[in-house]
Amino acid sequence: MPKPAQKPNYTGKFSEIYDLFYAHKTYTQEADFVQAQLLNFSKKTAHKILELGCGTGTHSFHLEKKGHQIVAIDLSPDMINKAKIKAASIGSRVSFFAQDMLLLDQPARPFDAVICLFDSICYITENADFESLLARIHAHLTPSGLFIFEFWNAPAMIKHLDPIRLSRLQNGAETYLKLSEAELDYQRQLYKVNYTLYEVRANGTCQTYTEQHINRYYQIQEIAYFLSKTGFTPLKWFAGYSEDEIITGDTWNILCVAHS
Ligand SMILES: C[S@@+](CC[C@H](N)C(=O)[O-])C[C@H]1O[C@@H](n2cnc3c(N)ncnc32)[C@H](O)[C@@H]1O
Repeated sequence: MPKPAQKPNYTGKFSEIYDLFYAHKTYTQEADFVQAQLLNFSKKTAHKILELGCGTGTHSFHLEKKGHQIVAIDLSPDMINKAKIKAASIGSRVSFFAQDMLLLDQPARPFDAVICLFDSICYITENADFESLLARIHAHLTPSGLFIFEFWNAPAMIKHLDPIRLSRLQNGAETYLKLSEAELDYQRQLYKVNYTLYEVRANGTCQTYTEQHINRYYQIQEIAYFLSKTGFTPLKWFAGYSEDEIITGDTWNILCVAHS
């Protein structure tokens, strides 16, 4: 029996301000890097792509401009609404759906490539779920289709976790302060973070919002094991979005390219 859908994060205010908080993120360069891998490891130039955990759709929009046809899903209906509003404002034809990747079932399959970026896959924390997700992804790909995804690298998480972080953002008259209080569960390889968002308005009133996010950090070889168990072959492991960097214990994010 399939698992019931998970409870979404990035709801309400957290989805509203997502793009503001990640305005500095290098989405364009990341999409260029993914594009380079698509061209490198596939004979096609235009792909039918499925994005998992797409958030507000920014990577999808960049990739669409390169000539790809894209379906994108996210667990959070609020993030999908934001993505749809953005799509309408720029005339994008990306198809967005609110769906749990653990229940992935997209009638437009097969896809030439599945992508899952900015650690969305790390919301999948149990071995059995990770394995069944990979099997579902495999079933959505053409033979020799590409799976390109990014995950938290365990050594960096263990060495460098900053248990308390505060970030500040000014948006017109409103000031947002985001407090992140994090801890690790070493046995289950979990990064648990409690976010408290303070919205300070021009009139001095303040509203508080909270969410807890639980992510798993992974080792390369455990991912390699799950990939091979579900019919994938890993082709390349990158230190983030870089061709030249060597993966070390300080590499926070690893991008993997695998084929079905
Ligand atoms: C850090 S955000 C990354 C969003 C987007 N990929 C980006 O680069 O901006 C993680 C996203 O994964 C989504 N997510 C978490 N668990 C999910 C699941 N089981 N199925 C689909 N999406 C999920 C969240 O709702 C959130 O939008």
